[in-house]
Amino acid sequence: MTFKHFIDIDQISAQDLTAIINTAIAWKQAGLASHNSQCAGLSLATLFEKPSTRTRISFNLAAQQLGMYLVELDAETMHFKQGKETLQDTARMLNGFVDALMYRTDKVAKFDALCAQLTIPLINGLSDHSHPCQIMADIMTVTERFGTAKDRKVLWIGDYNNVARSWCHASAKFGFELRLASPEGYAMTDTEAETLRATGADIHRFHDPAEAAKNVEIINTDVWVSMGDSHADARAQALKDYQVNTALMQQAARNAIFLHCLPANRGQEVTSEVLDGTQSAAWQQAENRLHVQKAILAWCVNRL
Ligand code: CP
Ligand code: NVA
Repeated sequence: MTFKHFIDIDQISAQDLTAIINTAIAWKQAGLASHNSQCAGLSLATLFEKPSTRTRISFNLAAQQLGMYLVELDAETMHFKQGKETLQDTARMLNGFVDALMYRTDKVAKFDALCAQLTIPLINGLSDHSHPCQIMADIMTVTERFGTAKDRKVLWIGDYNNVARSWCHASAKFGFELRLASPEGYAMTDTEAETLRATGADIHRFHDPAEAAKNVEIINTDVWVSMGDSHADARAQALKDYQVNTALMQQAARNAIFLHCLPANRGQEVTSEVLDGTQSAAWQQAENRLHVQKAILAWCVNRL
């Protein structure tokens, strides 16, 4: 079977990414009957080495709604987690059982170890480096709300983390302006900014959140302490002026929306007033994980 990995947005053509978004929107509008045998007979394994709610639910349902068989693996009770088998041998064995693997891990280097063995597509369900499936749902949500992601003005507020990095990759592929407002010590490095700009990412870095938020159409944030981060108190102290609240939303365009990949820590990076308010698209964004996951899965196994 020919297949494609879905590991990072910067490794996939703009044409393919757009096809995934358009398919997700079309399938969502047309309903289940339009695609419920799209991947019939194929199998997906999901493997989580970090907690998950949305990614777990959406991949489980996505596979089933495409007519796939699903195996949800419990990393903690597998031999590789107990040092009894290598991750590489685990991957090699999976080739014989399933047609795709979705994997959430703590270390991006593990993708390379897996890819050396896999003859089936690998889907990145989040690593310390990036979270591409999330940003595809975010782009889908922006497309539904504004017609296109192209030429939008997007603000990322918070530390430069895995989710922020995938937003940068998306800026280059979908053609939008991305502002990043981060405190000293938690921002993108100059070297990474140069590398990203060379790929076409339209990124602008700020320290002042209010200045960065002026006239943006999308305000986007994430928890101050990601899974695996240490020094929670120091992070909260450094990020305390980077909360998305009503005052910050008022700096943005009148029709601006608020995005958050969730889970949210209410009262830290966002107030309940904003998360539950009329400008919040976070719940639509969460639902879109399901729709976009289906299109990503189908793309990976050449059934799009
Ligand atoms: N946004 C996201 O990936 O959520 P989960 O960690 O719950 O999967
Ligand atoms: N940056 C967060 C995203 C969670 C979906 C984390 O890695 O924990």
